[in-house]
Amino acid sequence: MEYNCTTALDDMSELLLSDEMLEWSLPIRQRYQKLMAYNKCAIMEVETKFNVLNQEFSLQFDRNPISGIKSRLKDLHSIRKKLERKNIPFTIEAIEANLSDVAGVRVICSFKDDVYKLADALLKQDDIQLISKKDYIAAPKPNGYRSLHLIVTVPIFLANEKRIMKVEIQLRTIAMDFWASLEHQLRYKKDLDFTDEMAKELYDCAEISAELDARMDVLRSFVNIDNE
Ligand code: GTP
Ligand code: MG
Repeated sequence: MEYNCTTALDDMSELLLSDEMLEWSLPIRQRYQKLMAYNKCAIMEVETKFNVLNQEFSLQFDRNPISGIKSRLKDLHSIRKKLERKNIPFTIEAIEANLSDVAGVRVICSFKDDVYKLADALLKQDDIQLISKKDYIAAPKPNGYRSLHLIVTVPIFLANEKRIMKVEIQLRTIAMDFWASLEHQLRYKKDLDFTDEMAKELYDCAEISAELDARMDVLRSFVNIDNE
């Protein structure tokens, strides 16, 4: 029988799906699932903290500083790509040691001021430790991207242990989120040449959206909605 490429692939999938192979890989798969479950718990902890702050704020000032929270666990494919990009082997230990954004929480705020108020309130909590902060609002990326990025650690409490987990938090206004979401869709559109003109247009849109945030902040200060 001719041993061609299709036969080789068939043999390979048979080997990968064989009982022996599945049994051999079970501990690795279980450790990966555990790691993902811990990260999911860390996301829940951070989400709760923001929900509590939102609740307190709404009692105090009769408005919600948070318009929405979107969280995500980094998928295996993205984890693998990122480790490859950093020239790091693809192991559970390497994921834990080198990636700070397996757990990601994005907090969409009403006003720019709310971004900083919420970040300060979170960072004051004694179980939260700040690992790094990138203020892309004060210093936007060259393409116009704005957001406040925090990498923090948060403890999660399991039946018999406490684990310290890293979480990437992105805080931004509705206008910043609108721009970032559309920019992401446009930039990653398959089979599309992203021209300099398009980049310039997107940059201009980011400036317009920053202007919108600034004008809303002025309006907010006239209305004085945060006075008790
Ligand atoms: P990564 O390797 O992508 O994690 O970059 P980094 O570690 O230098 O982190 P950085 O804080 O710059 O960005 C992390 C995340 O912020 C990204 O995964 C995106 O979710 C978001 N982000 C950063 N820059 C941009 C941007 O130009 N456009 C959009 N839409 N999102 C961005
Ligand atoms: Mg990152």
